[in-house]
Amino acid sequence: AETPDAKNLPPNVPEWSQALGEGVVSRPYGRPSKFEADVIRRDVEWLTASRQSSVSFTPLHQLEGIITPNGLGFERHHGGIAEIDPAEHRLMIHGLVEKPLMLTLEDVKRFPRVNRIAFLECAANSGMEWKGAQLNGCQFTHGMVHCVMYTGVPLRRLLEEAGLKTNAKWLLPEGADAAAMTRSVPIEKALDDAIVAYAMNGEALYPEHGYPLRLVLPGWQGNMWVKWLRRIKVGDEPWHTREETSKYTALMPDGQARRFTWAMDAKSVITNPSPQAPIHHKGFTVLSGLAWSGRGTIKGVDVSLDGGRNWRAARLDGPVLDKALTRFYYEFDWNGDPLLLQSRALDETGYVQPTKAALRQHRGLNSIYHNNGIQTWHVLPNGEIENVEVA
Ligand code: MTE
Repeated sequence: AETPDAKNLPPNVPEWSQALGEGVVSRPYGRPSKFEADVIRRDVEWLTASRQSSVSFTPLHQLEGIITPNGLGFERHHGGIAEIDPAEHRLMIHGLVEKPLMLTLEDVKRFPRVNRIAFLECAANSGMEWKGAQLNGCQFTHGMVHCVMYTGVPLRRLLEEAGLKTNAKWLLPEGADAAAMTRSVPIEKALDDAIVAYAMNGEALYPEHGYPLRLVLPGWQGNMWVKWLRRIKVGDEPWHTREETSKYTALMPDGQARRFTWAMDAKSVITNPSPQAPIHHKGFTVLSGLAWSGRGTIKGVDVSLDGGRNWRAARLDGPVLDKALTRFYYEFDWNGDPLLLQSRALDETGYVQPTKAALRQHRGLNSIYHNNGIQTWHVLPNGEIENVEVA
């Protein structure tokens, strides 16, 4: 580490030991140290920074464990952030139900609660990488994912309260933002593990993540997790809204589009070292990363230092939960030679994360969504790192 000024180092008494610090009331809501000021969400200027369509990215290379802090989860808004006064917000449930509901936030909180840790990944995560290596940093290549603990009511309980008619097959959740986001959700998912959440990581949802209510669909593409949830219409067939026709479908090589690609397939990325987090020392090196699968738990992660020729098992550490981020480590000695770092996730269904070449062979070149191909980081002899692809 650099030592620009040795006056605070042993054997001297540091300046912060020589006077009293601030007392408790100076920070009624805690914040990170001012020396962590570069740990922030970032955007890509040319991508989408307008209020009609904006996206920021989680600083994955600066985070530990599996839980994303509430201020650092990526954001994706199609009409900006709705700043909602909960007293003036209602959740309406109507359509093919016996008893339409008009619920206040307080009403929603009177139902039995569940707590669930789940990752949310945008279907467009890594989409800019479809045609080749482009963005230099896992924050940008993989940062459209976050993982928090949600608290809320199972959607099933609300639907039971409303009483589903026998022909109820689909739901249309709608957001209260200027984009009025709507997606068709099959009833099976709603009755399985969907949650109407009002809290994340123990406190109320943040405005950018849907305060006061958002839909949580564990394992499914983030676009369907409607924020600022104001209405759920129950119907007997899908609506084919803009977000599930011209967007969030994948154009295949034969010109046909794949529709309703809900689940996120197994994926992983090495977060450290990576382009924004180069290696500073030869010798013992901690490699760390994240793996996740929308189809269940992560069974294992393999790591390669030579572009996929040889693989070794990484060590999973911390909770390994269904449809949540999973942390992995691989420690090794770096002698200064160039490396091609890769990770490959395996989930409980037996699915193995594919190479980018294998993905393109199947899906062609016209896709953006659902790019879960294996990422390669090229470590140079000086420790700097580039985003590359290997044949
Ligand atoms: N819900 C509403 N109402 N409006 C939106 O723009 N964006 C969707 C989804 N839900 C969106 C929305 C998209 S594309 C994604 S990937 C996730 O919210 C992002 O959630 P986050 O901003 O909490 O990360």
